[in-house]
Amino acid sequence: MHYLVYVSTASHLMNEAELMAILETSRSRNTADNITGMLLYKDGSFMQVLEGRAENIKNAYERIGKDHRHDGLILLRKGKTEKRNFPGWSMGFRTVNAEDMENIPGFQSIKDGRFTDPAIVENPHIAMTALKAFNA
Ligand SMILES: Cc1cc2nc3c(=O)[nH]c(=O)nc-3n(C[C@H](O)[C@H](O)[C@H](O)COP(=O)(O)O)c2cc1C
Repeated sequence: MHYLVYVSTASHLMNEAELMAILETSRSRNTADNITGMLLYKDGSFMQVLEGRAENIKNAYERIGKDHRHDGLILLRKGKTEKRNFPGWSMGFRTVNAEDMENIPGFQSIKDGRFTDPAIVENPHIAMTALKAFNA
């Protein structure tokens, strides 16, 4: 089982309908590709983990990278995992709020309110810890 984690910047501040449209495509596509994961959104930035077969993850990441609804993708982590961390989600989703920022380990150190903050990019292990915290 392979996984990858990235952060990106949304092309604009996303409304509920736009986020749901992204999620709907992702979920049907990921179900077909046997990909699971979690997508977080906060103030115009995304953080996403994808897990599945190496080939499927690679193809999905390439497609996602060409999507004009975001840009500036930064690959934080990729590697192997014994078993899925997000087995129940074709793509879990959360909008991250102020309370989450106080309570999720690692998110306290984010200064500019976005997942592309150096606090995350320079300490990529924080991203996986945070994503797992939403997997309750
Ligand atoms: C933030 C973000 C996350 C996305 N996550 C996924 C995903 O997990 N799986 C997926 O297949 N597509 C995802 N997409 C959508 C892809 O970019 C793409 O639109 C979709 O896979 C359909 O690709 P196609 O039009 O080339 O068939 C995401 C898009 C954005 C903006």
